[in-house]
Amino acid sequence: MTIENLKIPTVALGTWAWGDSGETGDGYFGSGLTRADLEELADRAHAAGFTLWDTAIVYGMGRSETVLGEVLKRYARNDYLLSTKFTPQAAGGGEDPMADMLEQSLGRLGTDYVDLYWIHNPTDVARWTPRLIPLLKSGKVKHVGVSNHNLVEIKLADQILGEAGFRVEAIQNHYSLLYRSSEDAGILDHCRNQGIPFFAYMVLEQGALSGKYSPENPLPQGTNRAQAYNDMLPRLTALTDKLASIGRSQDAAVPDVAVAWAIAKGTTPIIGVTKASYIDGLVRASRIKLTSDEIAELEALADAANVNTRGWWEKEMQG
Ligand SMILES: NC(=O)c1ccc[n+]([C@@H]2O[C@H](COP(=O)([O-])OP(=O)(O)OC[C@H]3O[C@@H](n4cnc5c(N)ncnc54)[C@H](OP(=O)(O)O)[C@@H]3O)[C@@H](O)[C@H]2O)c1
Repeated sequence: MTIENLKIPTVALGTWAWGDSGETGDGYFGSGLTRADLEELADRAHAAGFTLWDTAIVYGMGRSETVLGEVLKRYARNDYLLSTKFTPQAAGGGEDPMADMLEQSLGRLGTDYVDLYWIHNPTDVARWTPRLIPLLKSGKVKHVGVSNHNLVEIKLADQILGEAGFRVEAIQNHYSLLYRSSEDAGILDHCRNQGIPFFAYMVLEQGALSGKYSPENPLPQGTNRAQAYNDMLPRLTALTDKLASIGRSQDAAVPDVAVAWAIAKGTTPIIGVTKASYIDGLVRASRIKLTSDEIAELEALADAANVNTRGWWEKEMQG
């Protein structure tokens, strides 16, 4: 998939969990990440050709951007792509809060431009979208996208940018086997028709669809993701069992097949990576070919689980 002059890898890498403090159990994910782990992970990703890193100022309130910037210093700047976000709720009170937030991100990431800059959510589309235009003109932002926007909001943002000769170049929404709201609302079709890449986030439902967690081995206690998913885990076993059995036939594991499903649906998954070995899974996922019967079976099992994994920050995409 390409955005004009920007070749997007098959899978993008997410770093929300990198914003955790580094102490096991402390943070949104409860991931005990060390700098050495993350450097090993980045080297593995780099070698495998996964070079697009997604972050946001609000992931650990700057911690994710800072550690990502430090880890990526080992590569030439044009060897990787950086994607970060303007979050309206975190805007300051100055004359141009978006430009200010971008400057902070650039400082933490140790760079003078980002490849993709997103408006994180559709709070006041008419107010914030035009603020992207001077950032594009300055060259500090190469490409722009919108996240968590419904179709009406996407079209409004596109119209505002279009008046200045720019466009919405990418969409980033929650999309997994368990949460297909963007597909139901016609956003995937819109992207396909307009040639806009759709970045799917939370394809693994923060680990609940990774096969690693189960009713017997729930997500780390005391974390936000445990609160969101642990009660659902008993209803997910039929689906994770099916992912496992498809995986066995292709020498792959549960998360690899879940990621392969998102690729087969024409999206670019952004996978939250916390261990170097997860990169090997992404390599396998890129090679898996699912049949239309397998896709239909997985989606039927996902529907039968009858769970709602909408994040607390998200709204339904219809409307
Ligand atoms: N725009 C937005 O509003 C928005 C919202 C959410 C996320 N995002 C972006 O999308 C990215 C992905 O979402 P996410 O990180 O929330 O969730 P995710 O990708 O659904 O799940 C990530 C978790 O799955 C587990 N995992 C990943 N690969 C695995 C593998 N191969 N085997 C076993 N377990 C695996 C890890 O858990 P363990 O660490 O426990 O092993 C990891 O923390 C974020 O990092 C962020 O960049 C954007």
